[in-house]
Amino acid sequence: MSDSFTPRSVLVTGGAGFIGSNFIRYFLERYPGTRLTNLDILTYAGNLRNLKGVDSQPGYCFVRGDVCDGDLVASILSREKVDAVVHFAAESHVDRSILGPEVFVRTNVLGTQVLLEESRKHWVSKAVEDFRFLQVSTDEVYGSLGPSGLFTESTPLAANSPYSASKAGADLLVRAYRETYGFPTLNTRCSNNYGPYQFPEKLIPLMIHNIIAEKPLPVYGDGLNVRDWLHVMDHSRAVDTVLRSGQPGGVYNVGGNNEWKNIDIVNLVCDLLDARLARVAGTNRSLVTFVKDRPGHDRRYAIDASRMRADLGWEPSYTFERGIAETIDWYLANQEWVREVTSGAYRDYYEKMYGGRA
Ligand code: NAD
Ligand code: DAU
Repeated sequence: MSDSFTPRSVLVTGGAGFIGSNFIRYFLERYPGTRLTNLDILTYAGNLRNLKGVDSQPGYCFVRGDVCDGDLVASILSREKVDAVVHFAAESHVDRSILGPEVFVRTNVLGTQVLLEESRKHWVSKAVEDFRFLQVSTDEVYGSLGPSGLFTESTPLAANSPYSASKAGADLLVRAYRETYGFPTLNTRCSNNYGPYQFPEKLIPLMIHNIIAEKPLPVYGDGLNVRDWLHVMDHSRAVDTVLRSGQPGGVYNVGGNNEWKNIDIVNLVCDLLDARLARVAGTNRSLVTFVKDRPGHDRRYAIDASRMRADLGWEPSYTFERGIAETIDWYLANQEWVREVTSGAYRDYYEKMYGGRA
């Protein structure tokens, strides 16, 4: 598959978060020297330590700021002659959206609209030859599946949580900018990611963290909800593939063809850690605690990613066996990172590094 677009100066939003930082690592290792500006406000989920090692590469630049700040976005687009926006920045945790939906609407819906509008104006001004706006979205916009079937790109949007509703709202704005202004948008919708640098509020890193600390493992409801899991590096490669070769206006489902019931994944992580922590087989499973279900808990997600394979030649490269083992080993080897995240110590890294000057 040959590339139809070669980005020269990329604006990545939310690049200090889990997927954004992995994407930047992937991108700068693969295309060293490409100009890349990371715009991130550094919420609790943004951690500049996630970028240690890549942040010294030539071409990389960090700006602390809000995607809702139109003037700031406009100044970056023009100063850096940006020709591609890869939009990861979001409030991303479903449970937090149930407790406080407002910030999800502000960041995920308004933030996307501001980025779209400033990018459209920049594109219309012909400051750059060609342009792409890539919206990183989620399979959760499609709602919930029964025991069979898969989400395709034409499955109607039927979001059930404030988080997924805000992501669906953003996706509809992306569609509207394509239909109304002919703006060159791309939209990916991916299933659950796992891998290094994931904040330990999400299922897999939370379970790893609690097992190491010998704390209870909260499993919501009956534990039989199903998610499709994809390694974050496979997602990063998918986003890059869509950016370079996707059809403007296109929507692309991204998934791992790797469905797991929550309880099975928790038990697997327990067993892998029994071996690594030299605990008697079955020890960690005894930490499993069934707790009250998440309100509106989607029962099953499963993705038909055949468009990615047929049109763009992308497919996952990680087996789950390899990916989950490497992820567990990464958390074991990076307990300092975990300590900083759980204690809040990572929050002053920006001041230490940039002294408020970025
Ligand atoms: P994350 O919560 O780890 O990171 C989000 C990042 O966005 C943080 O660095 C945060 O500081 C930044 N941010 C938040 N509000 C901002 C604002 N107003 N201005 C600038 N930056 C801001 O999220 P993640 O898990 O890495 O997800 C990244 C994207 O991928 C999100 O759009 C999410 O919806 C989507 N997605 C995530 C998954 C998953 O499994 N985690 C799966 C599919 C899609
Ligand atoms: O599907 C893609 C989505 O995956 C992304 O868009 C979201 O940003 C990302 O957070 C993730 O959403 P989920 O709600 O699926 O992920 P989470 O890790 O929160 O939960 C995964 C499953 O595990 C879900 O069925 C709820 C359950 N769960 C979660 C936690 C945190 C538990 O049983 N116990 C827990 O403590």
